[in-house]
Amino acid sequence: MALMDVFLDEIRDLYSAENQLVKALPKLSKGAKDPQLKTLFADHLEETKGHVERLKQIFEMLDEKPTGKHCNGMEGLIEEGDEALEEDAEGPSFDLGLTGGAVRVEHYEIAGYSAVIAMANTLSLSDAANLLSATLKEEETAAKKITALSDPLMKAAAKQPAEEKKPMDGKEKYAARLSKEDEEAAAPELKKHKATAAA
Ligand SMILES: [Fe+2]
Ligand SMILES: [Fe+2]
Repeated sequence: MALMDVFLDEIRDLYSAENQLVKALPKLSKGAKDPQLKTLFADHLEETKGHVERLKQIFEMLDEKPTGKHCNGMEGLIEEGDEALEEDAEGPSFDLGLTGGAVRVEHYEIAGYSAVIAMANTLSLSDAANLLSATLKEEETAAKKITALSDPLMKAAAKQPAEEKKPMDGKEKYAARLSKEDEEAAAPELKKHKATAAA
């Protein structure tokens, strides 16, 4: 596969990811309890719409269509965000669940944009590289802002009393079973690792 094809695949993946975020960010903004976090999500939604537009511009420049890929990675991250929105935690702890998910999203985007910028540069697509770099900058700033907001939320959450343990619901039981399966699947390799370390 030529680099140009890899590049197109990757920016189609990002196009899907950004579109998924345009749909997901309003839920986060609506769900956030802290007003600053609410605003941050709302502002980043507007920026994200710009990210979709920039990608569209690149496809137009290259005379290619933007659709064709679905970003499974972003689908998974958004699913985790949805889970955080369903938590019945108190204010700061609840918001920390949202910021945790949101920082993961931004870092996923940062990794994606960094990769396609390197490809665009290698392909001498300087206009595309410039557009992608403008988006990367906004992703990095968003990640920093979310991290900065997490700090006071964490301090407030540390003062919250511990919540009493409730029995697991069906979803939690299912997650616990999968977690156990993850552990069991890793066990043979971990055993080898232990044996090598001891030798
Ligand atoms: Fe984005
Ligand atoms: Fe973003």
